[in-house]
Amino acid sequence: MRILFYMPHSDAGAWLHDFARALPDAALREWQPGDHAPADFAVVWRPPREMFAGRDDLRAVFNLGAGVDAILALEHAHPGTLPRSAQIVRLEDSGMAPQMAEYVTHAVLRYMRRFDEYERQQAERSWKELDPHPRATFTVGVLGLGVLGAHVAKTLASFGLPVRGYSRSAKQIDGVSTYAGDAHFDAFLDGVKVLVNLLPHTLDTRNVLNTRTFAKLAHGAYLINVARGGHLVEQDLLDALARGQLAGATLDVFREEPLPPDHPFWQEPRITITPHISAVTLREDSVVQVARKIEAVMRGETVTGVVDLARGY
Ligand code: NAP
Ligand code: GLV
Repeated sequence: MRILFYMPHSDAGAWLHDFARALPDAALREWQPGDHAPADFAVVWRPPREMFAGRDDLRAVFNLGAGVDAILALEHAHPGTLPRSAQIVRLEDSGMAPQMAEYVTHAVLRYMRRFDEYERQQAERSWKELDPHPRATFTVGVLGLGVLGAHVAKTLASFGLPVRGYSRSAKQIDGVSTYAGDAHFDAFLDGVKVLVNLLPHTLDTRNVLNTRTFAKLAHGAYLINVARGGHLVEQDLLDALARGQLAGATLDVFREEPLPPDHPFWQEPRITITPHISAVTLREDSVVQVARKIEAVMRGETVTGVVDLARGY
C-alpha cells in the first residue's frame, strides 16, 4: 500500500520512521508540491488543496487531529476537492483526552480557588484573603460530550463539582447532568459558572460563544475555550468582561493563530492565553491508531472516527 504523509512544522522523518515500523509493508513518502503519483492513503494535518488534485485512488484520508474543520474548509471553499472515494478519518483521543482533562481541570480549579485574582493581587503586592467560591454552586458546563468533552466532564465531576454537559444526541454520563439539542441549550447554560467549549467547529457551532450565550450564564462567569477560535465572537467576550458578566477567560485557540501581537486579548489581564497546546497530537499514539485503522480498511473492515461530511464532524 502507498501512503502519503503531510504535516507542516513536524519532524516528518520521525513520523515516517514510526509509520514504517508500524506498517513494514507500506511504501511511505512525504508529499511535496507536484507529487501526483498514485497513493492509497493520506495521513495529513492542514493539507493544501493541491495535495488532493486528481486523487480518485485514495481510500482514506487520516486527519492527524481531532478537529477536521481545516480539511472540510477546503471542500466548502472548492466543492469536489476531497476525493469521493475516500473516507475522512479523524484521531480519536490518541492521548489527547488526558491532556485536555489536565488543562481544563487546572483552569477550572484556578478560578474556583481564585488563583487568577491572587495572581493579580501579587502583581500589586496586595495581601488580601478572598472568600472562596462555594463548590456547590460552582457549576461547570461542558459544550460537546464527544471523545474529549465526555472525558473532561467526568474528570471535573470527580472533584465533586456540579457538572453539566451538552451535545446533539442524548447521553448518559455518571455524575453529569446532560442536555441535548437546541431546545435544551438555554436550560444547559442557565446559571453555569464556568463554560468549557469542546464542540467541533461546524456551520452549526461557529460563533456559539457570543453575547446571548454569555447572558444566560451566572453573573461573573468564566469561559474556557479549547475547541476553535471560530466559536468565539471576540468583541462579545471583551464586552462581557467590561460589563462584569464574565470575570475571566482562558483561551487556547483563536481566529488567527498565532494571535497577532497587536490583538486586544494580550492587553486584557482577565484573559489567559496559551498557544493551542491544550491537547497536542502525540506521535507514538497517533501512529499506532492510524496504522491499526489502515490495516482494518485493507481487510475490508469498517473503522471508527469516520467524519460525517454533512454534519461537519
Ligand atoms: P467529537 O468526539 O466529535 O465530539 C463532538 C461533540 O460535540 C459531540 O458530543 C457532539 O454531539 C457535539 N456536537 C457537535 N455539534 C453539535 C451541535 N450542533 N450541537 C450540540 N452538540 C454538538 O470531538 P472531540 O474529539 O471530542 O473533539 C472536539 C473538538 O476539540 C475538536 O473538533 C477540535 O476542534 C477540538 N480540539 C482542540 C484541541 C486543542 O489543542 N485546542 C485538541 C483536540 C481537539 P453528539 O455526541 O451528539 O454527536
Ligand atoms: C487540535 O486542535 C485537534 O483538533 O486535534
